[in-house]
Amino acid sequence: MNILKFHSDEDLAQAGANLVVSLLQSKPKAVLGLATGSSPVGVYEKLVEMYRKGLVSFSKASSFNLDEYVGLPADHPQSYRSFMNQHLFSHIDIDMAATHVPDGNAADLAAECAAYDQMLEDQGPVDLQILGIGSNGHIGFNEPDASLSGGTHVVDLLPGTREANARFFDKPEDVPNQAVTMGIGGILKAKQILLLVRGEAKAEAVRQAIEGPITTQCPASLLQSHPNVVVLLDEGAAKWLK
Ligand code: F6R
Repeated sequence: MNILKFHSDEDLAQAGANLVVSLLQSKPKAVLGLATGSSPVGVYEKLVEMYRKGLVSFSKASSFNLDEYVGLPADHPQSYRSFMNQHLFSHIDIDMAATHVPDGNAADLAAECAAYDQMLEDQGPVDLQILGIGSNGHIGFNEPDASLSGGTHVVDLLPGTREANARFFDKPEDVPNQAVTMGIGGILKAKQILLLVRGEAKAEAVRQAIEGPITTQCPASLLQSHPNVVVLLDEGAAKWLK
């Protein structure tokens, strides 16, 4: 793993955005793997800035998001589709039809998961997968468990994950109980992985993921088995690394 520590959020975000931009410069048709949540927001801001300056185009690129809540229509303000439109897609020249977010409101979720994996198979592999990490070590919504699924699947969100995400909803009970998430196998198929982590609350998860044993109880530790992972950390997140 290539681990880099930054003193400012701005520099961390810029470093993440630079990776995406250099990929798109060398491969305009790149397939991007995208995450939601607080972690990638700064990178998306920088990407919008660089697009506006004419430094990058997304017109030939495509994207696959990691996850989506079950039961929220795509146009719900807290859906991950809305998040992506708001923070990135609406501000750049990406073809909306080439942006993929699992449909957590599909009538047949098993079929939706299988179709998402088929699209990834047909249009992938993902060139660069952006990830955040949960304070319990989850990536995507692959929660710690005795075993992990390879493909896209429906997952029950753990109480701690629902609590952490309650900040985006009016009431804690509005946070969906389930999500559709790409599996660990799908995530690890990406050619390169960019893990973004900020804040001391994630320091223990970062330590477990990077220096701990590879275990399904810390899904991010599986990243140790990937040959091309870049980790961008702030000082808080790096606090417990040797
Ligand atoms: C989001 C996702 C999650 C988040 C993680 C960290 O698409 O897959 O794994 O990356 O929960 O969330 P934040 O960045 O909000 O702390």
